[in-house]
Amino acid sequence: MERTLIIAKPDAVQRGLVGELIARFERRGLKIVGLKLMNVNTALAQEHYKEHTGKPFFGGLVSYITGCPVVIMVVQGPNAIEIARATIGTTNPVAAASGSIRGDLGVSIGRNLVHGSDGPQSAEREVALFFKSDELLDYERSADRWIFES
Ligand code: RTP
Ligand code: MG
Repeated sequence: MERTLIIAKPDAVQRGLVGELIARFERRGLKIVGLKLMNVNTALAQEHYKEHTGKPFFGGLVSYITGCPVVIMVVQGPNAIEIARATIGTTNPVAAASGSIRGDLGVSIGRNLVHGSDGPQSAEREVALFFKSDELLDYERSADRWIFES
């Protein structure tokens, strides 16, 4: 069982695609265990994307993610990190497969709609950056845990 951090980025919020994005993760079968609408300040954006510090696109990336409110969620399920990345599609929407969020809804790498953690360590770090533990549901103990049984 894994948890991963998903961000509906400012372009998704401004384009009215939050419901579409949430629906895609739900329909895929992942469970939402945390959800909030918030403004990301510059310090939090820099921390979240710290692996990209110094890259040519870093300044633009921080301005983009801080530009208007985002919807942040944590989704959970077996192999949730890899499944969420596949649901999102490759970084550049130009190359993203049809059927993925970026492949169906995006055209530009700098406005690619959604973030998903890229591995177990980043997922744990990013979930902790945006959520306190008491803001997350404990699906392991919930009544509908059976949907994940193999
Ligand atoms: P994310 O972190 O947002 O989920 O995206 P990702 O893993 O698919 O891509 P990553 O390499 O982590 O890059 C983070 C975000 O930076 C922007 N970017 N621009 N102009 C460029 O070459 C470039 N490369 C990356 C994208 O918005 C990407 O989502
Ligand atoms: Mg990334």
